[in-house]
Amino acid sequence: MNRPTRLVVLVSGSGTNLQALLDACADPAYGARVVAVGADREDIEGLARAERAGIPTFVRKVSDFETREGWDASLATVVERFEPDLVVSAGFMKLLSPTFLDRFLTLNTHPALCPAFPGMHGPRDALEHGVKVTGATLFVVDAGVDTGPIIAQVPVAVEDDDDVESLHERIKTAERAMLVDTVGRIAREGITVEGRKVRIGAGAR
Ligand code: GRF
Repeated sequence: MNRPTRLVVLVSGSGTNLQALLDACADPAYGARVVAVGADREDIEGLARAERAGIPTFVRKVSDFETREGWDASLATVVERFEPDLVVSAGFMKLLSPTFLDRFLTLNTHPALCPAFPGMHGPRDALEHGVKVTGATLFVVDAGVDTGPIIAQVPVAVEDDDDVESLHERIKTAERAMLVDTVGRIAREGITVEGRKVRIGAGAR
């Protein structure tokens, strides 16, 4: 078997998606391992999860830099140090620059069915719109907000008595399963991105 695919995971909050990846990576047959976890803020559960798992962490706060470009360059430098095959943005609440994205193949998970309801409030916006089905999307990050080529999606039904929290929690359960399944398949089988078409398998990594 090939060496495990090296993942750097970026987080900003509770890190349940990160935890799902850490749990999956415990099985060597999964084909990937988390080599570092980065954040844009301190004192978050996502970092604590990494520390408990013995994974190196780093923090780059935008407010510590004079310019956004400086922050982005510093983030790229520290990520590079861990030689990732893939960067996974899992609840990371910052946009990444085109320079960063040219350097690292970066995946992101969004709690809505793209292209519907991009941005910070996917579950709230879906609920307010009155859709009956929403879900989660795993995509290749590009320069836009939740606009990149779609890798995988999972539907989640909206219940009559849902509020934002209950809906987001149900989405997150489906989102974690999709993330783990898809990242594992990418690690084992490779990924090709041609324009907006993403294919898993066919050997490429
Ligand atoms: C996920 O729903 C993600 O899609 C969104 O924020 C949530 C992060 O959850 N951007 P967690 O930090 O992985 O628990």
